[in-house]
Amino acid sequence: MSEKAKLAVFVSGSGSNLQSLIDSSKKGELAAEVVLVVSNKKKAYGLERARKAGIGTFVCRVKDFASKEEAESKLIETLRIKQVEYIALAGYLRLLPDSIVTGYRGKITNIHPALLPKYGGKGMYGHFVHEAVLAAGDTESGATVHLVDEIYDHGKILMQEKVPVEPGDTPEALAARVLKVEHRIYPKALENLIQGKYD
Ligand code: GRF
Repeated sequence: MSEKAKLAVFVSGSGSNLQSLIDSSKKGELAAEVVLVVSNKKKAYGLERARKAGIGTFVCRVKDFASKEEAESKLIETLRIKQVEYIALAGYLRLLPDSIVTGYRGKITNIHPALLPKYGGKGMYGHFVHEAVLAAGDTESGATVHLVDEIYDHGKILMQEKVPVEPGDTPEALAARVLKVEHRIYPKALENLIQGKYD
């Protein structure tokens, strides 16, 4: 049996997508092992999910280090020690340092709760996305998995799935419908990437 790819997941919040990746890995549907969870927020529930699953964590907050450079170099060192091969951003609300984007080009993914290239970019996250979709009167939304480059929500699209916008939808109702799809497509897209299906 071939070895599993080593995956780091970056979170800033609840980490329900992290959970779906951990679960898919355990079920053997994703040929990757989550070896590290990184967060820029000490209280992110995603860190708790990691601990419960016995996965190592790294909190990367600039204020805990002497400088931004030191925080970045410790992060890079941790990725190296854990032999991380792929990085999945899952509700991570920071741009990655350029050195990581360059070093892992083509191996960093993100999930976004809309049909990119619509409703992406800086400031377009969480409820802002769903509010914008509803305000525009769109009849459909969805989720997108894409490769990460230097620009927010910009890299090559790997997988998308649509959901309908229902009459009377609130941002919360739409978010919940989209999140279900996210949990399904993120492991699938990562599996395809690892299997070289996007080459
Ligand atoms: C998801 O909607 C994801 O698309 C976006 O942030 C949210 C994270 O949710 N990037 P969770 O932390 O995975 O529950």
